[in-house]
Amino acid sequence: MRLAIIGGGIIGRTHAEAIRACPTSDLAAIVDPFETGKALAQEYGCAHFQSLDDLIAWTSGPEAGARVEGVIIATPNALHVPQATRMIEAGLPVLVEKPLGESHAKCTALVALSEETAVPGLVGHHRRHNPLLQAAKAAVDSGAFGQLVSGTISATLYKDSPYFDVPWRREAGSGGPLLINLIHEIDLARYLFGEITEVSALSANVQRGFAVEDTAAVILRFQEGGLITIALTDAGVGPWSWDTTAGENLARFPAMPAVSHMFSGTRAGMSLPDLAFWTHEGAQNWTTPQVNRPRSVQPADSYIEQIRHFCAVISGEETPRITLADGARNIAVIEAIQRSVQDRCPVILDPGQSRAV
Ligand SMILES: NC(=O)c1ccc[n+]([C@@H]2O[C@H](COP(=O)([O-])OP(=O)(O)OC[C@H]3O[C@@H](n4cnc5c(N)ncnc54)[C@H](O)[C@@H]3O)[C@@H](O)[C@H]2O)c1
Repeated sequence: MRLAIIGGGIIGRTHAEAIRACPTSDLAAIVDPFETGKALAQEYGCAHFQSLDDLIAWTSGPEAGARVEGVIIATPNALHVPQATRMIEAGLPVLVEKPLGESHAKCTALVALSEETAVPGLVGHHRRHNPLLQAAKAAVDSGAFGQLVSGTISATLYKDSPYFDVPWRREAGSGGPLLINLIHEIDLARYLFGEITEVSALSANVQRGFAVEDTAAVILRFQEGGLITIALTDAGVGPWSWDTTAGENLARFPAMPAVSHMFSGTRAGMSLPDLAFWTHEGAQNWTTPQVNRPRSVQPADSYIEQIRHFCAVISGEETPRITLADGARNIAVIEAIQRSVQDRCPVILDPGQSRAV
């Protein structure tokens, strides 16, 4: 499959590397009006365009052939929905980076367009392509974990000052760790445990002093009754986050020997990314020892698997593992969390806005 990347920044580069490493894809073009994108296109020896119009003209011109068969949208958040809309209208399947869009309402319109046109879309919650997470999901689906009772997620991601030189990362509506980082945790939690029906949250911006938060404490209630708490910060130090423990993107992040997710079920306790799986030896009681029988997996690169899957979605061999509706639901949860912060009260989510995962 010949793919194009719109937005040749940090994650655009990760996608370019994954496309090169994936046997079923080629990088045909990069669209980016700025220097970083142009330099990336030169490095990868692919076509470079300033605008979506130029890409569409190139790929649909009389001599074009099948120049581009799918497009990855890796631009700032506010551009995701308008650019994905444009691509779907041009008949091109999209892999849209998270967050799918700035608001649930805008995302919903995109979901409807994809359904009407039958042009598929996938959202870049790449963790679902990781065998680690798929093994955790298998443990839940098999019944070995039981029902979710409670859980703790830590997303501790200290970011240095230059990261915030890019204006959208510190502006309300596009930046802040709730939109940039927490959304991955929401997707992970929904993937494992189903729909979130109520949220409650506090946030703080005292460390960085930007309009957006740098820290948040979030509580989620799931449809089946379980509760998960999340500690999120981009201003605090500690190894406890998926990004810095799972070894998913070693070009950017270290893989430290710590745990970021702890889930307690009615039959077992499970942590990630070490895939520890704790059950009682003998009677299930707090006085009885528990043993850890970690699940084992064959590691694989989530970003490469994401590209392989995107190619299979384009060819019609697979259906999207993370649908546009999933991306929209994740935004609905984030919006509810933001409202809880603002109104200082719990917010109930309408399960009708969601799709089963
Ligand atoms: N899946 C992940 O783990 C992950 C990781 C990082 C970023 N992201 C997401 O990817 C997106 C980009 O993040 P980033 O960190 O790479 O940002 P970035 O600022 O490094 O890159 C954005 C790129 O988009 C380009 N751009 C701006 N306007 C454009 C336009 N109109 N047309 C085409 N290109 C344009 C910029 O020149 C830049 O090269 C964000 O939505 C972010 O949330 C996802």
